[in-house]
Amino acid sequence: MANENTNLKIPTHVAFIMDGNGRWAKKRLMPRNYGHREGAKALKTIIRACKDLGIRYATFYAFSTENWSRPDDEVKGLMDLFDEQLDTLKQYTDENARLIFIGDRTKLSESLQKKMAENEEGSKDNTGLTVLIAVNYGSHDEITRAVKKISALTKEGDISEDQITPELVNSFLDTGNIPPVDLLIRTGGEERISNFLLWQCAYAEFYFCDTLWPDFGKNELIEALKNYTSRDRRFGGVMN
Ligand code: IPE
Ligand code: IPE
Ligand code: MG
Repeated sequence: MANENTNLKIPTHVAFIMDGNGRWAKKRLMPRNYGHREGAKALKTIIRACKDLGIRYATFYAFSTENWSRPDDEVKGLMDLFDEQLDTLKQYTDENARLIFIGDRTKLSESLQKKMAENEEGSKDNTGLTVLIAVNYGSHDEITRAVKKISALTKEGDISEDQITPELVNSFLDTGNIPPVDLLIRTGGEERISNFLLWQCAYAEFYFCDTLWPDFGKNELIEALKNYTSRDRRFGGVMN
């Protein structure tokens, strides 16, 4: 049987803004945290789909630095869910996936931090799909932390001002030496970036869809990839 996906251009790095869980739950007269639980299921479906489609890096926005402003019970629900999910990620690391967490984890509970470190440590030599999960992540915060680290090294004389290049700044971001984002997908109908991967998306293609995150599955991802395949990426050059 012909594989309908053979003509797809597969981006190296896809980033996802998993938006719309709350509205998905509201439509069903259910609490917002129910939507987040369904969202966690969609996340797992998409990790698998990324692997099947040959994507090398997939980054997921799970909790932003701004999301602390939500009601206490929602924040607690999200943290509890995250804690539970961390116990189940081993199935992916056993399948050769590498897990990396980005964001400022020092503001998270010790239990979460410990589980995050264990998942990272246990999968660091894996060579399959790299999954990055952004928790307490905001680009402004990430860039500010990078600037502080570079500033400290400059002050101590470890690096000179001339050595501060875009490559050096990039390497101090939480994403380190992960390649830049090729395709950014945001579900849930909003067309904004909400403080996500501002530096890393410098030349990303953006794809916005109305599907609410819990309804986003492999077919929706393939639709996004079809759209990406039709784009002409110029990187400041001229059209081919
Ligand atoms: C995204 O869904 C998940 C998180 C931000 C944690 P939302 O909770 O923002 O869902 P909507 O946008 O209110 O529908
Ligand atoms: C972005 O969604 C953050 C995550 C998906 C984790 P939000 O729902 O928080 O974004 P805004 O507030 O609509 O911009
Ligand atoms: Mg939202």
